[in-house]
Amino acid sequence: MEHSLLHALALAGLITAVGGPLLILGLLRPAERAWGIESEQDEFGRALGKGAARWVVCGALLAAAATLLDLFVQVAELRGKTVFSGVDIAEIVRFATRATVGRLSLARAGALLLMAAATLVPGRHKWSVTGLLGCSAIVLTSLVSHAAAQPVGRYAAIAVQVAHISGAAIWMGVLIQLLLARGTIQRASSGTGVALVAEIVRRFSPVALIVVSLLVLSGVLAAWRYLGGVGALFTSAYGLTLLVKLALLTLALFAGLVNYRIIRPRLLAMDRSNADAVKLVLRRFGRMLELEVTAGLLVITVAGILASVSPPGQNGSLRLTERQTDAFLEPRLPAVRMVNPATFYGAAPRTVDDLHYSEFTHHWSGVMVCLLGLCWLAQAGSGRAAEWGGRSWPFLLVPFAAFVVVASDPEVWWLRRISIGHALSDPQLLEHQLGGGMILLLAWLGWRDRRRAGPERPLGYALPIIMVLGSLSLLGHAHSTLITDDALANLINVQHAVFGAFGLIAGTVRWLGLRGLFPRQAARWLWPGLVIGLGLFMTFCYREVV
Ligand code: HEM
Repeated sequence: MEHSLLHALALAGLITAVGGPLLILGLLRPAERAWGIESEQDEFGRALGKGAARWVVCGALLAAAATLLDLFVQVAELRGKTVFSGVDIAEIVRFATRATVGRLSLARAGALLLMAAATLVPGRHKWSVTGLLGCSAIVLTSLVSHAAAQPVGRYAAIAVQVAHISGAAIWMGVLIQLLLARGTIQRASSGTGVALVAEIVRRFSPVALIVVSLLVLSGVLAAWRYLGGVGALFTSAYGLTLLVKLALLTLALFAGLVNYRIIRPRLLAMDRSNADAVKLVLRRFGRMLELEVTAGLLVITVAGILASVSPPGQNGSLRLTERQTDAFLEPRLPAVRMVNPATFYGAAPRTVDDLHYSEFTHHWSGVMVCLLGLCWLAQAGSGRAAEWGGRSWPFLLVPFAAFVVVASDPEVWWLRRISIGHALSDPQLLEHQLGGGMILLLAWLGWRDRRRAGPERPLGYALPIIMVLGSLSLLGHAHSTLITDDALANLINVQHAVFGAFGLIAGTVRWLGLRGLFPRQAARWLWPGLVIGLGLFMTFCYREVV
């Protein structure tokens, strides 16, 4: 999980940074020339340039920091541990200077740090140098990917990956920069400022259309190579993670379409002397931009997780077996018998009792999730039911958190066979303990939430943030240990990808609903409905014994 989240951060930072020189050299300068404005002579152009430079530095530094931190995580993961098990600097230096992945990561971090530095150096070629360094960081990123690990057709796969990430940088990188310049754009009340905004949008939309087509083409090519067939989309953790990416992509494409079909023509046709009309159109542009970028950043984050999940490949090894697929699609009542974990703890490979125990904990966690979703659904309504729902859910979370912390890994708090320190150094145990911690945090926030009024309940922005982060870690949650065979590990990973999908879409809908970027009425029912859907899947469908 740590590796995939750091990789996603590195991608988001890289794409934001590369968006800077693209915006300035690819859009602002040509727009200034089209209006006969000397670059840097216009207040709006200067403000946009200054803001872009600031965000290039932030993006490049974020990506460099995530890349360097990931070196620590990768070395720990090579030992099957987390960074909390202690760090051996000599080992990190050896990995960074001798292993190909280490050297390429070091080179990428170097290019990103140079990119940040180049942006701070005044001069006519600043943006070209920054752009070139950004391109080299994209190539270096593609050299550490599934594409680079391909036994055959490696160079073609890498070329597709470079095209794909470049496409993401042109489309999303520029949009992220424009969204970060939202204040500057909405303050563009002067004639030239508004004219430049309209000119930039006029020039960018057709480019975005071409780039999205390139993204789809390169994405489908890569997907075909790594999935080995359409069936793997639904029967592998990799395929399901890709489906989540595509679901989020539809939101970004919808916003892009509205910008292209509605906002752009209005921007080009508007009477620039009418300040109110200008303000209204720019505000609408800002909102659609926020939707497009929010969905786009989630797409990039899920892409970073996708790049860390093992693809099923041509031999379909990491796909559900037919028997598993049938069992998966056959709901049944939750297990009521709880096996005493002392009877199976430490057995290798895992015993049937151990698997039944794990089914029991997932089923009853599912019941808690259903009850939570029902409370939030009730709270979306009005009257006594809403009041009852709003009061009850924080109390549900305390026993739920205790259940997750104690029952998910009984060897820690229940059987006391291993210490907390050991638990923190084990990737899987750490994620379960973190999961319990997040639920406890929700309970505390929920208790404080009683005083909050209106549609922001429950918990305002905190809830979707925790749901999205928790679900991203579920998507990147890999259950591959020495005592779990591949088929079982794959079944568990696929089901955790389903958990992550439900939670991520629910959190996204809740966030967009709060931002007024999703139909409020629909959002009020949809996100609690998805939480209930997650609970029902966990309660009636989760299987380990097939
Ligand atoms: C139909 C559309 C798309 C498909 C089918 C698709 C599919 C893929 C696939 C299969 C990969 C390779 C992951 C791996 O290394 O295993 C990938 C990587 C990636 N995709 Fe997409 N993609 C699509 C659209 C997009 C869009 C619109 C964006 C950004 C806005 C995007 C951003 C990325 C990024 C950043 C990576 C690189 C991940 C990495 O290797 O680190 N993709 N995509």
